[in-house]
Amino acid sequence: KPQLLIDTDPGVDDALAILMAYAHADLAGLSIAAGNVGLGHTVRNARTLVDLVGMTTPVFAGCAMPLVRAPEEDAAFVHGQDGFGDVGFAEPAAAVSAESAALALLRLTRERPGELTLVALGPLTNLALALRLDPSLPERVARLVVMGGAVTGHGNTGKVPAEFNIGFDPEAAHVVFEAFPAFDLVDWEATLRHAFDDAEFDGWLAAGDHRADFFGRIVATARCYNALHERTGLVAADALAMAVALDPSIVTRSEKRAVAVELDGRLTRGATVVDWAARLGRPAQANIVLEVDQARFAAMVKRALGVPD
Ligand code: BDR
Ligand code: CA
Repeated sequence: KPQLLIDTDPGVDDALAILMAYAHADLAGLSIAAGNVGLGHTVRNARTLVDLVGMTTPVFAGCAMPLVRAPEEDAAFVHGQDGFGDVGFAEPAAAVSAESAALALLRLTRERPGELTLVALGPLTNLALALRLDPSLPERVARLVVMGGAVTGHGNTGKVPAEFNIGFDPEAAHVVFEAFPAFDLVDWEATLRHAFDDAEFDGWLAAGDHRADFFGRIVATARCYNALHERTGLVAADALAMAVALDPSIVTRSEKRAVAVELDGRLTRGATVVDWAARLGRPAQANIVLEVDQARFAAMVKRALGVPD
């Protein structure tokens, strides 16, 4: 079984990804950042998930703000004001660890060098902070998988070419992209190519167990938002990144390229700039995931929702 450490800002699609992790892997911890919504909500949502699956996974609260600049936007308009579709869940019982997320990332990777796959599903603030405290972190992780970026500039934020996770904290993404010699990058454009058919997804929600019931409730707001904007298909960015983390053999097409983050552009701050033509002479550190086996991705999601085979 893969051994995972997840850095995340739950978030509806984060929740699906975390349910996948519980179904298919062992989870060393959830380190939490602000992103989709504020840190108070993202930490609470992580605890709600831990309760849902009946585990005792440690939850580490991390950065409440990006490294340098205040964020220009959050994603409450998609995920709900509380990040979980404003369903109004009761206060969770699961505890928050006293240890801060960046320190927990360093400690856990020191205790288990080379064992843990780091899965980054939110802004990269905690990871960047950990790297500044200890630049040898990359040597101790088995793999890093990042959900982030828009590799040909089709972003999903107010800064058009920027994707949300990178656009929320571009400096943090810059630190991470410079520090890791190799990582898998699952970008927003890839997630759009791997949406699930709405009716098929509804069938899984109806056939699954309490996890499907839970996910059906938290995803409702986001689905309304999409319907209002005449978008079809269920897009779950973090779930796709999780599929790649759980089983790299699911990737059917990828390209290794150098990727950098724009920090200054008036219209482009937070954009992921891919050196497609290899003109900059920089090491190609990012394995850009372009296509995965959709049937296997679907099977992983169905199992996470308790849909019988
Ligand atoms: C990313 O931004 C967030 O809204 C999602 O949770 C995902 O991590 C997609 O751009
Ligand atoms: Ca996320």
